[in-house]
Amino acid sequence: MGKILGIAIQNYGSLKNIKMGKLYSDQSGSELGNMVAIIGPSGNGKSTLADAFGFISDCLSTDVESACDANNRGGYDQLISQGSSDPIHFELYYKENSNSRPITYELTIAKDRYDRPYVKEERLRQRRPGQKNGRPLSFLHLIDGKGFAFEGKDGGQDDEDGSVEGEKINVELADTRKFGIVTLGAMKQYARIELFLDFLKSWYLCYFAPDAARQIQTAAPAQYLNRTGSNLNNVAQYMYRENPTEFKKVLAEIQTKIPNITKIEPVKLKNGQMVLEFWQNGFSEPFFSTRMSDGTLKLFAYYLLLHERNPRQLVFVEEPENGLYHHYLANLAIEMRKSVGSGYSKQLFVTTHSPFFVNALSPEEVWVLEKGQDGFSIARQASSYEFVKELVSEGAAMGDLWYSEYFG
Ligand SMILES: Nc1ncnc2c1ncn2[C@@H]1O[C@H](COP(=O)(O)OP(=O)(O)OP(=O)(O)O)[C@@H](O)[C@H]1O
Ligand SMILES: [Mg+2]
Repeated sequence: MGKILGIAIQNYGSLKNIKMGKLYSDQSGSELGNMVAIIGPSGNGKSTLADAFGFISDCLSTDVESACDANNRGGYDQLISQGSSDPIHFELYYKENSNSRPITYELTIAKDRYDRPYVKEERLRQRRPGQKNGRPLSFLHLIDGKGFAFEGKDGGQDDEDGSVEGEKINVELADTRKFGIVTLGAMKQYARIELFLDFLKSWYLCYFAPDAARQIQTAAPAQYLNRTGSNLNNVAQYMYRENPTEFKKVLAEIQTKIPNITKIEPVKLKNGQMVLEFWQNGFSEPFFSTRMSDGTLKLFAYYLLLHERNPRQLVFVEEPENGLYHHYLANLAIEMRKSVGSGYSKQLFVTTHSPFFVNALSPEEVWVLEKGQDGFSIARQASSYEFVKELVSEGAAMGDLWYSEYFG
């Protein structure tokens, strides 16, 4: 459970200083919803934003130095906003559920005296139980790998007067290239850090590639789709194994969303492997998933993603429209929104160039990345354009307004 109410990023490529939603450091914005679509012309930082989420994920599984080099990032010097001498900085404002107190996570990545990227500062803060206002207490604060953490579910240190509530433990990390939350979140006594770490670990960046999904897969059930979707059949196998009746229901529902497909059936091969058969209008025999069209496979993967058991809490999809017939996109957007609901179990970020996709969304759900005077990106919620809100309330569709250049 959990979602991001706001995010601020500084000095990450073209994102020199962007803010989205509500933050501890700036409470003026409204909380991000469960569906966040990001639009804007090419080069305005949409993929950079997706990559910022990917960067944090990569840091969790490796370390900041490896993450700076991974996924074509080209190392710290390429990654830092050009001309900036300040470090990379992230602020996440996060809430576990409707009753919990928001948590602020701040992370600063800089270069050490050997010119290697490291975690310069990391801090987690939360208000006292029952408090709606007032200063939050830091329950983790590390500078250059040294500082403190608080055990248990409450407590912390007041940053201004230094007063301490709860169990404070002094901490020194052996490796400053690794996140403190990873080291400490592995220990039961740091329950709040563990919970927050679990949330970050559950992020999923989706770069679905139909060709990858066509590869023959060995029989190995997998709970979640991987980055490219190459384990599509393994996920189907897992879902079937966990609950065959429910999985067949899911397939029956997905089938209604994929035009021309009359039935999708899991078939178990003698070697234990599972394949999916797609029954298509006009044919007496089904086709294996390896023979399906790019668009059909893609649509199937997206809908499977929306039906995951124990869904990942934050999913980032880049340009779902690629390779999909434009008439499917409004439906996909509606289904995505339906799937995330309004609670705290799922949040979906989507970058898109498609007005058809955006047509299904509200001004609050759409964010525009614009280029500022200095060439760096600025994030603006579409609802902040008053005339857009007015026109939508009179029945205009967001995608049409965008296409007609009323905004974006
Ligand atoms: N270190 C950096 N400092 C500042 N800007 C950078 C840096 N590295 C890359 N850029 C710029 O950031 C932009 C990155 O664009 P990005 O790929 O995020 O755009 P996009 O909105 O996804 O575009 P598209 O619609 O084409 O996918 C490019 O214009 C690139 O020149
Ligand atoms: Mg892009």
